[in-house]
Amino acid sequence: MFKKIFRQDENAINSEISAELPLPSHVAIIMDGNGRWAKKRFLPRVAGHREGMQVVKRMTRYANSLGINILTLYAFSTENWKRPEDEVDFLMKLPGEFFDTFIPELMEENVRVNVMGYKEELPKHTLDAVERAIEATKNNTGLVLNFALNYGSRAEIVTATQVAMRELLDEGLSPEDLTEERLAKHLMSADLSDPDLLIRTSGELRLSNFMLWQLAYSEFYFTQTHWPDFSEEDFKQAVVEYQNRSRRFGGL
Ligand code: IPE
Ligand code: IPE
Ligand code: MG
Repeated sequence: MFKKIFRQDENAINSEISAELPLPSHVAIIMDGNGRWAKKRFLPRVAGHREGMQVVKRMTRYANSLGINILTLYAFSTENWKRPEDEVDFLMKLPGEFFDTFIPELMEENVRVNVMGYKEELPKHTLDAVERAIEATKNNTGLVLNFALNYGSRAEIVTATQVAMRELLDEGLSPEDLTEERLAKHLMSADLSDPDLLIRTSGELRLSNFMLWQLAYSEFYFTQTHWPDFSEEDFKQAVVEYQNRSRRFGGL
């Protein structure tokens, strides 16, 4: 009875994903709040990161089951090196732990791993783990699981501009010939579509140097939930809200 009345309300947002409305093809998530989650439980911050890793597995499965094409996860920013050494060390060990335990399932689920970030600055054991995962999953054709690891958007834009300008000069062209397309071709996301939906957990309303170029027309969804508590239901709510947004790209 209540349901019926609820559905008649024009402003009511259905709580289920619609098969008629488009899904976001690319979902990007700023996974924030691991530290606060741990603090609330009187645990060390790294306990939040470990729990957060389990959530990454669950959300990968869920995104794949929905038929989302790309899931980008902000795992470590170029600014996160400012954290205490033991926390950074722990975070740098997580990719090894994550891929060692998860690659068989990624293969089974046909998921392809991609990493964007300044990989050369990662410790060797982290880089090895990342490269093993990329290599092992390179022929998979399902969900692209894209980690932003030692990623910073301003640096990315500067580097891309430098490469694009060099290319222009080599072609005998001038700086004025630089186009959006040429610049975007040199971003770390060159092979990926722009995110349709950006989710940030844990209540912070900022981008923290994440995909500034690529998020120009993305829909933003913020939730108070800390990343280790983020569930399939929360992900679903973000997708439902996305489906109820009206994307205009500056048009009508
Ligand atoms: C996000 O959680 C994970 C990383 C940035 C690596 P935080 O570690 O930022 O958690 P809070 O924001 O301090 O709660
Ligand atoms: C952004 O979170 C980076 C990641 C989630 C990896 P931060 O916790 O580093 O961002 P700020 O410092 O609150 O802006
Ligand atoms: Mg944080």
